[in-house]
Amino acid sequence: MHIDQLSTAELQSQLATLEQQYDKLKGLGLALDLTRGKPCTEQVALADGLDGILQGNYRAQDGTDTRNYGGLDGLPEARALFGELLGLPAGEIMVGGNSSLTLMYQVVEFALSEGLQGPESAWGNNDTVKFICPVPGYDRHFSVCEHLGIEMVTVPMLDTGPDMDAVEALVKRDESIKGMWCVPRFSNPTGCVYSDDTVARIAALPGLAGANFLVMWDNAYAVHTLYDDAPALASIADHCRARGTLDQVFQFGSTSKITFASAGVAFLASSPGNLAALSKHLSYQTIGPDKVNQLRHVRFLRDMDKLSAHMAKHAALIRPRFESVLDTLESELAGTGMGSWTRPRGGYFISFDTLPGLGREVVRLAGAIGVKLTPAGATFPYGLDPLDSNIRLSPTFATEQAVKDTVAAFVVCVRLATVRQKLQQQSG
Ligand SMILES: Cc1ncc(COP(=O)(O)O)c(C=O)c1O
Repeated sequence: MHIDQLSTAELQSQLATLEQQYDKLKGLGLALDLTRGKPCTEQVALADGLDGILQGNYRAQDGTDTRNYGGLDGLPEARALFGELLGLPAGEIMVGGNSSLTLMYQVVEFALSEGLQGPESAWGNNDTVKFICPVPGYDRHFSVCEHLGIEMVTVPMLDTGPDMDAVEALVKRDESIKGMWCVPRFSNPTGCVYSDDTVARIAALPGLAGANFLVMWDNAYAVHTLYDDAPALASIADHCRARGTLDQVFQFGSTSKITFASAGVAFLASSPGNLAALSKHLSYQTIGPDKVNQLRHVRFLRDMDKLSAHMAKHAALIRPRFESVLDTLESELAGTGMGSWTRPRGGYFISFDTLPGLGREVVRLAGAIGVKLTPAGATFPYGLDPLDSNIRLSPTFATEQAVKDTVAAFVVCVRLATVRQKLQQQSG
């Protein structure tokens, strides 16, 4: 029954039952963890074939000895493969080291301190630099901004992507806004896929925001579908080409959640001018990326058909974990008015919203019985969720049984916190 329809006596009776259930869980000495979005051991093991795959043949297709220095922009065959993954020609992509987050940091820092179009264009010439952050969002994007002194302005994340009316209004009225974070496919944490209209409007933003505006298009989950019918993503590059805004978008991706997390290959794409400027900038930091790893990845993943088959194996491993979470939420909380959640068709997360004011309390209750959840607020800049309601659930890393146990305990915590709040409201 919906919580609003329960009488005080019914709420009190539920409270007694929930407190008993909670105490019982406490006695179990649980040690469960649903925090970071890491692939599980079986998932990373899918790429064990990387080990030894070169068998002494370190030569790239053009004869490059990958064991030696050089090749800052990446091996041609790696650029071709990951370009295809992003739907781009090899010439528009650069393949780097092991982390796309590093590439993102380097791009923001470069735009801030040196300027993508030369010193005049450096954001740092301004007293205040702001970024638009759709919320809930990815905490590490927010940390990059915070660390580099970029102020964050939030806009709501809708099922279709960021609320574009809000985004357009903001960039029109505040010229200190220089960029925007986007996770366009299976967004972290809601799992939404940006609609075609949203992609087109984002590609058009530089026309409203000015020449130095930059879209940070973090396509971390570009190929991470859980179901064959998962929605596709429109090509931002095509929209940008039509609008003449290609200079104002950087796209990112990596194989962190395709092969090995932290030992994969990261890549970025932008206009030829931007790639040349960035490449020059990076040449002061490195003589070249790990081309041996790039070659291993090309030999292992080979082409998009093989890569898709590989991703299907990932999906087969983690889909049951997602379904276990969603089935429990559905059977225990649907229609109760005690929370809402997303039902992603891909990616790594489920986003759960408690009633306002209960996010931290649910995480606290769970922590006290040995169930670690991502800290409430982590999905908002500065860790501040104004409604104190969003909790990111990451079901990939734990075993299927642990996921099941965790969600069962989570549901008790949600119910307990909600019933207590309701009773307090009634008595206050
Ligand atoms: C949206 C998003 N971008 C980037 C990353 C990290 O990518 P990488 O391992 O390539 O640095 C993550 C990891 O969770 C992520 O969720």
